[in-house]
Amino acid sequence: MATGKERAYYKSVRRAAAALNSDMTLKEALDTIVRCTARAMKAGVSLVLLDSTRKKLIHSSSWGLSQTYLRKGVLDTDKSLAEVLTGQPVAIADVSQDSRIQYPELAAKAGISSILGIPVMVSGTAVGSIRVYSKEPAEFTNQDTNLVTTMANLATAALHSRTPYHETEETQQGESQAQTEAAALRQVRTVTYAHPSEEEFAHILDFYHIEWVYEPRSFPLNWDGDRVTEMFTPDFYLAGLDLYVELTTLKQRLVTEKNRKLRRLRELYPEIKITLLYKKDFDRLLAKYGCGPLAQARGHGISQVLYSSAEIQHRVGALAEQISRDYTGRHPIMVGVLRGVFCFMADLVRQMTTPLDVDFMAISYYSEDSSAVKITKDMNLNVDGRHVLMVEDIVDTGMTLNYVLNYLKARNPASLAVCTLLDKRARRLIDVPLDYTGFEVPDEFVVGYGLDYEEEYRNLPFIGILGPEKRPAKERGHSKTSVAERNASQKRPK
Ligand code: IMP
Repeated sequence: MATGKERAYYKSVRRAAAALNSDMTLKEALDTIVRCTARAMKAGVSLVLLDSTRKKLIHSSSWGLSQTYLRKGVLDTDKSLAEVLTGQPVAIADVSQDSRIQYPELAAKAGISSILGIPVMVSGTAVGSIRVYSKEPAEFTNQDTNLVTTMANLATAALHSRTPYHETEETQQGESQAQTEAAALRQVRTVTYAHPSEEEFAHILDFYHIEWVYEPRSFPLNWDGDRVTEMFTPDFYLAGLDLYVELTTLKQRLVTEKNRKLRRLRELYPEIKITLLYKKDFDRLLAKYGCGPLAQARGHGISQVLYSSAEIQHRVGALAEQISRDYTGRHPIMVGVLRGVFCFMADLVRQMTTPLDVDFMAISYYSEDSSAVKITKDMNLNVDGRHVLMVEDIVDTGMTLNYVLNYLKARNPASLAVCTLLDKRARRLIDVPLDYTGFEVPDEFVVGYGLDYEEEYRNLPFIGILGPEKRPAKERGHSKTSVAERNASQKRPK
């Protein structure tokens, strides 16, 4: 008769093996294997993988371990369970008494008593390990070692079945299957980026073959007695350069705060090399190598990239999620005002999860030959009794939106709300209600992602500020311009 523990082990192996025989991605399959191991062992588990230098270990998946513990610092292959990488299992019954672990005090603080490390092998070479962190002091048994070894083998099998090619010995470039698989495995990082620009930065690092680890270490900065009251976690660690990199957003308030933390970090940890990369520097860095949005835009008279394509997609996704939630069961009509809205509308509706209708309107703008704004293309759908959500590219003075809202209100919708991608609040003349806003933009002329200047720039994948030499003349010094002039300077037939 199998014991309760044996039954739990069989169940976990069955579940992990089922993940292999599914349409899961490599990352999903590895996450499942780690989770099943953690459940069976009733302990925290992580999968760590060698980087290409074979000197550092990168966390790929984990389950049941705190962020603080995971960010304890970079793991060096010669200091952290080194024998596992020679292909041997390592069982440490008492972490406080063992020199084979790299951060014993932090393990003790996290309440970890015992650790079991099992190698993950590809074609006879260790590429990483599965580690089990037990809070209860544990003398790991053969049964435990066998279970985790089976899970490590399942991880290797996941890799074999999900690596793009399976040529027998060597590829044309002379790269062996094992090397390819090891490289594929390194790509599997469970990174949830806090900001899209971090993801872009990671792609650039990959592009230049610079090894990186995302947020590997949190540095305590202030204490109240024994308790840490403030921490700083730099975004990246570049192992080859022994350099931490922190990316900053555009908000000055956050930059000032980061600068303060950096000064404190340098004071407390003088041996740590860290650099702060402003978004502007980052865009310039990319442009220098002829890539990135600024490089593409240079020739077009764009002075600054405000929101990259990744940032826009991220924000549009969040808006779609919020709107889908708010409109569940209400089947809204989403009405776009042509033409600047076409990119935003297309991306927004494609990320929405509730049933909806789409319609468009177009209006004429101020020009010498038209005395008043008018609708040049009306909606096709009847809004009477329907929930209507107006979708705008940018709200500037608010006059366009005010006109359209009044027009629609007179047609008895059940409700009327507004979603705008950009809000140029500094130039508002009419106070229009905005229910959903993508970004608040500065008082600058912006183009791209549907927005144009004299019909140019609509196809740029990002939103940028038009350089002063290209800017509409009235826009450059609009403090003295009349309302009509201000509008004329920004309005074009859309
Ligand atoms: P409003 O009526 O002043 O709020 O202007 C809204 C319209 O002006 C938008 O739908 C755009 O077509 C145009 N617009 C305002 N500011 C900009 C800008 O910075 N770039 C491109 N178009 C703009």
